[in-house]
Amino acid sequence: MEKLEMLYEGKAKKVYKTDADNQYIVEYKDDATAFNGLKKGTITDKGIMNNTISSKLFELLEQKGIRTHYIKKLSDREMLVKKVTIVPLEVLVRNYAAGSMTKRYGIPEGTKMDSTVLEFCYKNDELGDPFINEYYIKAMKLAEEADVKIIENMALKINEILIEFMKGINIDLVDFKLEFGRTSEGEIILADEISPDTCRLWDAATHEKLDKDRFRRDMGKVEEGYMEVVNRICG
Ligand code: TMP
Ligand code: ASP
Repeated sequence: MEKLEMLYEGKAKKVYKTDADNQYIVEYKDDATAFNGLKKGTITDKGIMNNTISSKLFELLEQKGIRTHYIKKLSDREMLVKKVTIVPLEVLVRNYAAGSMTKRYGIPEGTKMDSTVLEFCYKNDELGDPFINEYYIKAMKLAEEADVKIIENMALKINEILIEFMKGINIDLVDFKLEFGRTSEGEIILADEISPDTCRLWDAATHEKLDKDRFRRDMGKVEEGYMEVVNRICG
């Protein structure tokens, strides 16, 4: 597998072409941003930790029948993935109130939801990824109605699988963000990453935060939080 030119650099990852058709290499960086890039920093070895965590979770989801872009982990920071066109939606799944939900609706952080909350944002950095609904998605031609249904069903199934898995390592899955892509054959599959950058993960007993909120809120012990997740997932 030969790594060719960089196609795209995002806030946390770089994507490279390869000599294989329909396969890209994703390289995970240590750069950390929050609040749509307003806050910038570095989390030492985050790229290595997030690649490890993401790889494990994609493997778990594949085992449980979820189609993902993951092919294999190539190195500390690199993952081989299927080439997809990203659907420009951020799909947020919430089991407990936290983050923007507490601010928008005045619900105290940590309140358990009676049922799962699914939320869409329009993936557009210039606009700050604004909240969007099915009507806008259809009217703006961001995705077909049938594809939105597929994405919703996949997100809810992924939530069930991840809740169960996290319970086994004493972590409450508070909320997370997913992105989906379309393959050249037109299939919708899970893409991007699943890591403490994109999930809120709390220790089930102490409610200690083991995710990017430690960075967002200057809580300290950021690397230690990520490492704790690596150790529990790999342990
Ligand atoms: P929020 O509370 O800020 O809306 O975030 C909900 C979850 O989604 C949280 O786990 C962080 C994740 N997320 C991202 O990964 N990227 C983003 O751009 C946003 C807004 C949230
Ligand atoms: N990932 C987004 C950013 O870089 C938002 C966040 O995670 O807080 O700003």
